[in-house]
Amino acid sequence: MLSRRVVQLPSRMSARFVSGWFANVEMGPPDAILGVTEAFKADRSPKKMNLGVGAYRDDQGKPFVLPSVKEAELSIVNANMDHEYAGIAGIAEFTAQSAKLAFGEQCEALKEKRNATVQTVSGTGALRTGAEFLAKWHSGKKVIYQPTPTWGNHIPVFKFAGLDVKTYRYYDKSTCGFDEAGCLEDIAKIPENSIILLHACAHNPTGVDPSQEQWLKISEVCKKRKLLVFFDMAYQGFASGNTDKDAFAVRQFLKDGHNLCLSQSFAKNMGLYGERVGAFTVMCADKDEAARVMSQIKILIRPMISNPPIHGARIASKILSDPKLKAQWLTDVKGMADRIISMRTQLRSLLAKEGSTRNWEHITNQIGMFCYTGISPQQVEKLIKEHSVYLTKDGRISVAGISSNNVEYFAKALHDVTK
Ligand SMILES: Cc1ncc(COP(=O)(O)O)c(C=O)c1O
Repeated sequence: MLSRRVVQLPSRMSARFVSGWFANVEMGPPDAILGVTEAFKADRSPKKMNLGVGAYRDDQGKPFVLPSVKEAELSIVNANMDHEYAGIAGIAEFTAQSAKLAFGEQCEALKEKRNATVQTVSGTGALRTGAEFLAKWHSGKKVIYQPTPTWGNHIPVFKFAGLDVKTYRYYDKSTCGFDEAGCLEDIAKIPENSIILLHACAHNPTGVDPSQEQWLKISEVCKKRKLLVFFDMAYQGFASGNTDKDAFAVRQFLKDGHNLCLSQSFAKNMGLYGERVGAFTVMCADKDEAARVMSQIKILIRPMISNPPIHGARIASKILSDPKLKAQWLTDVKGMADRIISMRTQLRSLLAKEGSTRNWEHITNQIGMFCYTGISPQQVEKLIKEHSVYLTKDGRISVAGISSNNVEYFAKALHDVTK
């Protein structure tokens, strides 16, 4: 017979092992953007607006599932596909389509198989994969120069991978536009063989992009300084509504002879945020170099994620490879970009109607999801406290958070805090 005995632990042992291994761990600061969302959620005002998040919203303020994505998803479900692992580099059809979308159908370098392209965990994963690759294999200086300001995550992505992060001038506060002279001057001083990060289009957080003429100048000075160019293209199609136009800089740099790195995200232009669909490419000198680079990127991916998720990549791949679905998708992207452009125009004219004498030209000059309003942290505070309009301290607003229903309210609020 089993006896039921309560085993007494000796007093020096306790059921809970209190080690204190992490007593030295300090509390980290909360994420700036998530903090805005938390504050927004707690606000009871029926007029509250969240202009902090970088996700597209339709004119009803709701998350938007693209019709092309719905259709692709349906056909994938109907195809009864299995859920086996993808290879380390992801789904081959997806990476091929992704590279074509970025570099163009007729790209010679792709025909020559000079690209090493892998599927990644969205744009962030692409950047991190690239950062890890460069930290290990870049034969020049392990320093990456980033624009000021840049997307907040760019700095830790490259730092945590072991690269040194430095900056170059980009944004001109006095015009809320591109600081062409400062940018070119700073790039011209970057030590040779360093790395430079460029936002391919729809610069985040400023919404300020160089013109095509300015891109030519940037390309030239990068070439003179023998810089390895790393393009981050998280918004292809989202800026102008045209995927070819938004890829201008990337394609021009390639034409100019740069063997560049590229990160791509399908979070915004396909609305596949949580599916984590992205790609990282190194454009190499030749096919042989591309094969060697590919082998090393795979060695880095294997212990990080083993292999990437398949569902979102299947959707993107289906859309990009089916001419009918691709045409639908291009219409969907244009629809999103156009709604944002129209909100910019309405906001600017409503501010004028309110009697604002400030120059708000930059609202329509800037492009993509974000607008750097140029307002002060105190004015941001006032917008939040007195009008329940939530945004980040730097005055950045996500134009996607504005709709026909609240653009007037926002214009009034913005005028109120800036008059
Ligand atoms: C400039 C830039 N790069 C990359 C990303 C990566 O986004 P994700 O990892 O969601 O694709 C973002 C997202 O906001 C971004 O703004």
